[in-house]
Amino acid sequence: MVEVNSIKSMLHYELECGRGYYSGFKLEPKEVDLVKNLIIQQWIAIIKQYDPLLWQQFAKRGIEKYHELSHLLNHELIWKKSNRIFSNKDAEAIRSMSLIKNLEKIYGPVIIVDEENVGYEEIDWRLVRPNQLSDIGPLHADDWFLQLGHGVLPPPHRKAIKVWVALCCEPGLNGLQVVPHSQKKEWRYHGVYRHGFVKPQIDEDELQVQLLHTFPGDAIVFHDKLLHAGALNKGKNCRISMEFMLFVNK
Ligand SMILES: [Fe+2]
Repeated sequence: MVEVNSIKSMLHYELECGRGYYSGFKLEPKEVDLVKNLIIQQWIAIIKQYDPLLWQQFAKRGIEKYHELSHLLNHELIWKKSNRIFSNKDAEAIRSMSLIKNLEKIYGPVIIVDEENVGYEEIDWRLVRPNQLSDIGPLHADDWFLQLGHGVLPPPHRKAIKVWVALCCEPGLNGLQVVPHSQKKEWRYHGVYRHGFVKPQIDEDELQVQLLHTFPGDAIVFHDKLLHAGALNKGKNCRISMEFMLFVNK
């Protein structure tokens, strides 16, 4: 109980008054493999839908080397967000893993937010190819999406936090980048039409961006006003991560 309370106060301090993120949670190695397998199954199924002949070639090459064959597909179209959302069954399997259980030890019961209105708790994954600027978006705060009319407002007495989890990554070469302490300030941005709806475009430069050094399984919990973005992948393999928004007790 003492430990739970000390993690709770450290987490609260880091998110609200500190750097804006906390990196003390993780998925166990076995769970990382399970989630990776769920993603690979979905990845193959979606490729099959778009091109019934090519999928075997991709399956043989493997998801981490997907970029070597991605020119054969319309990457941007095929990997729109709706194709990267886990099924209800897979999301339930992930929910039962140690990461959510440990988060619930600290926060009490959490709600995984159904941001895209899929009808169940929504968790999605990302596939970022090496050296592809078009695979990453600009720095933003998740709260800006809400301000632009997307997403879901937290119910009374709850607040939104984001969880990002590294699954396949090369520490120091790819992953999540953040602007530490940026959750304490308001930043300028405007809305631009991108990928079918109005998304935020930051109007600030010279920000102190920091790439977080993450190993497979490492989870980053962060404030919904923290500036962050996927980093350009300077590794040799595709970076794979998953993320979800939580409503937690204040
Ligand atoms: Fe985000």
